[in-house]
Amino acid sequence: MKEQIKILVVDDEPGIRDMLSYELCSHDYQVVTAVNGEEALEKVGKEKFDLVISDIKMPRMGGLEMLDAIKKVNPDIEVIMSTGYGTIETAVSAMKKGAYDFVQKPFNLDEILAIIEKALEKSELRALLGVYEASRNIFSLIKLDELLPVMAGLSNRILKADDVSIMLMDHESRLAVAAAAGLDDDKRGKTRLALGERVAGKVAQNQDPVIIDGPLDKDPRFSGIDSLRDIRSAIVFPLVMEGRLLGVLNANRTVREAPFTSADLRYASVLCSQIAQAIHNATLYRALDNKIREIQRIQSQLVESEKLAAVGKLAAGVAHEINNPLTGIIGFAELLLKSGELSYGQREDVQSILDQSQRCRRIVQNLLQFSRRKKGNVETVNLGSLLEASLQLMKYDLLRSDITVEKHFPEDLPCVQGNAAQLEQVYLNLISNARQAMEGKKDGLLKISASNEDGRIVLRFEDNGCGIPPENLNKVFDPFFTTKAVGQGTGLGLSISYGIIQEHQGTLRVESQAGKGATFIISLPVFSKESAI
Ligand SMILES: Nc1ncnc2c1ncn2[C@@H]1O[C@H](COP(=O)(O)OP(=O)(O)OP(=O)(O)O)[C@@H](O)[C@H]1O
Ligand SMILES: [Mg+2]
Repeated sequence: MKEQIKILVVDDEPGIRDMLSYELCSHDYQVVTAVNGEEALEKVGKEKFDLVISDIKMPRMGGLEMLDAIKKVNPDIEVIMSTGYGTIETAVSAMKKGAYDFVQKPFNLDEILAIIEKALEKSELRALLGVYEASRNIFSLIKLDELLPVMAGLSNRILKADDVSIMLMDHESRLAVAAAAGLDDDKRGKTRLALGERVAGKVAQNQDPVIIDGPLDKDPRFSGIDSLRDIRSAIVFPLVMEGRLLGVLNANRTVREAPFTSADLRYASVLCSQIAQAIHNATLYRALDNKIREIQRIQSQLVESEKLAAVGKLAAGVAHEINNPLTGIIGFAELLLKSGELSYGQREDVQSILDQSQRCRRIVQNLLQFSRRKKGNVETVNLGSLLEASLQLMKYDLLRSDITVEKHFPEDLPCVQGNAAQLEQVYLNLISNARQAMEGKKDGLLKISASNEDGRIVLRFEDNGCGIPPENLNKVFDPFFTTKAVGQGTGLGLSISYGIIQEHQGTLRVESQAGKGATFIISLPVFSKESAI
């Protein structure tokens, strides 16, 4: 049955209009008539037609002018021109303007019917081409948040809807709008629908697409569901992939008067299977992306550990060689200072020998500590009390640098298993780095917080100091990387801390934006009686 196909017949001669109407209706086409181009154009603006058959010579607006205007309103509509005084030239100019074909009066009805059939096939083909184009667009995007709005826009265009929304199922099996086209934010609806709730929920539950024509309350399939908006016609289509429900697509006509047809439902079907496939691909891509990130993270940890091991060996050798002569220099310098036989100038010189040698010893001690990072005594450590002790040690420095410390530790923070002295060293390194980064700032603020996240304790040291430029973010944990002036930093604090946390089965990482401060984040496994040896 062709009742869905609507043809507009435009002719100023009532006899022709009546004859064509009669013949076309008897072939199950729906026919609307217009007496000139102007009236035809007005009707095309309001209703959806599949085809127009129009005379060329008419008063007011002629056929060619009307053809131009119709193609502007709807380039997809096929127009067949007819005239009684046809010349080859008018035929050619009509075809150039986009007419599908040309028939001469008096009509041969069989010829007209054959041309109509062909024209309709062409417009179906064009719609399918649109769907094909859409699918190419869809598959070139792989991120869901970029993909869904594009899909909504394309569906809106292809289905000639006034608005389209794509609802996806969340992990609680509720439907929520994930993307929309042609809808204001306030109309998108923030509610989440359970399966069976409203029209979308019903369609999702039954996994059966529907066309709704006219008001909902007149539709027995949806009795008891009232319409939220004034919708003239709607297609609601489930998005299903390998039998699994992913969501639904809602396409609505609120302004366009023509209802959706079974042809539209066919396009929606092709479109929805493409959309479901694309969502499926995007989900797979997301899982893959997470895996790759995880592998990259583990790899960079591995590189960091290898670097530490290599530098550790070297450092141990050098430190050992320097340590002995250094002990001699310090000892003799102290002896000389105590002897009382030196002039004032000489005492100053020896004092500076002593100061510099002591600095060398601190560096050597750092190096040794770095290389000998073997597991210390393992005990149950309360990270909150340990932090208090570290802050106490740094109290004077922090006060002098005018830095406020905010501590947010939950009362019931679980303990960890580890070496308190080493963990304290990590605290001291991080606090001292933060202090140095905020030096000279008036409102220096160091926030230290702890939280229990899925069996791990996460500690955050957040300062509002100078921050770390992006090009240095990968380097700060490298041994001997420092941006501090010569003599101010050895560049070992963070690599030592990194190694210590790693030995505690934890991770240490940094987030920062230059000029906006830095946050160092430690994650450690919670101590549980079961995991204790
Ligand atoms: N909180 C922070 N804010 C900004 N930059 C930081 C911060 N912490 C570390 N950095 C950067 O990372 C570099 C390396 O830090 P690390 O603690 O390893 O060495 P250092 O502080 O330079 O010297 P050391 O700790 O051995 O005395 C620092 O020089 C600094 O550039
Ligand atoms: Mg440091």
